[in-house]
Amino acid sequence: MTETALSTKHLLGIKYIQREDIALIFETAAQFKQVINRPIKKVPSLRDITIANLFFENSTRTRLSFELAEKRLSADTINFSAASSSVKKGESLLDTVNNILSMKVDMIVMRHPAPGAPMFLSQHIDANIINAGDGTHEHPTQALLDAFSIRESVGELEGKKIVIVGDITHSRVALSNIFCLQKLGAEVMVCGPPTLIPQNINALDVKVEYDVKKALEWCDVANVLRIQLERQDIQYIPSLREYTQYYGIDKALLNSLSKEITILHPGPINRGVELSSDVADSDQSIILQQVENGVAIRMAVLFLLAGQKRL
Ligand code: CP
Repeated sequence: MTETALSTKHLLGIKYIQREDIALIFETAAQFKQVINRPIKKVPSLRDITIANLFFENSTRTRLSFELAEKRLSADTINFSAASSSVKKGESLLDTVNNILSMKVDMIVMRHPAPGAPMFLSQHIDANIINAGDGTHEHPTQALLDAFSIRESVGELEGKKIVIVGDITHSRVALSNIFCLQKLGAEVMVCGPPTLIPQNINALDVKVEYDVKKALEWCDVANVLRIQLERQDIQYIPSLREYTQYYGIDKALLNSLSKEITILHPGPINRGVELSSDVADSDQSIILQQVENGVAIRMAVLFLLAGQKRL
């Protein structure tokens, strides 16, 4: 039987939640997905809740998706972006957040370049905190929407084979996906150039494959990541052109496989680098379903965390 409340006050990472939490989020998201496909897409569930969206790093999908989820739930929202804030004048993270909380904010959605920044905040303030991506650490709502989308496409994850292809070392999406998929019983493989696979990957109990064709032959689903040049302090690959030659996925490669697989990408896509347009826009790709599901998943997370607070 599904639980009725989350086991946690915050969503700091998939590592810190239980399989039962994921099941409850999925069940709630499925209901919200029906809501956002109705002519009247709004419910009054969070009309007494104020949410601050604090983005210290660039975002398109996650920021818009959280903002829309909050509006659909009738929450009051305030938006903060570091580029136009007093952070530029030297204000600390804790001072910034405490000033915002003085305005009677209940929940914080935060993206920050420093791994652990949401965990740090959770130890100093009382509001619910949702990690919208912290450096190379975790991106929990992305992993939840990815797993939810995979389940819609191929059924329950127990026993399914999922490969994550690309820049694993610098990806918070990879780590959150590994935790989420394993909690749901999937087998996980990572694939990429040796320089972009973390040296301590064995600690995560995943398969490692350096040949992308073998990885795609093995899997039911491939989640393809971009090369995160903005996080790379040294040159990990000779060139993007060479990366595409060895790890780029195009329709000819998919057609050469013995079965049809499902393709995900968290975005933003570098078309022609990790994925060709004929794959990104094909029937095998569920990239836009991921974006649609992102709103429902974030509505579920906000709703459940706010509900837990009121108990
Ligand atoms: N997938 C994702 O996190 O995209 P954004 O960086 O645009 O939010």
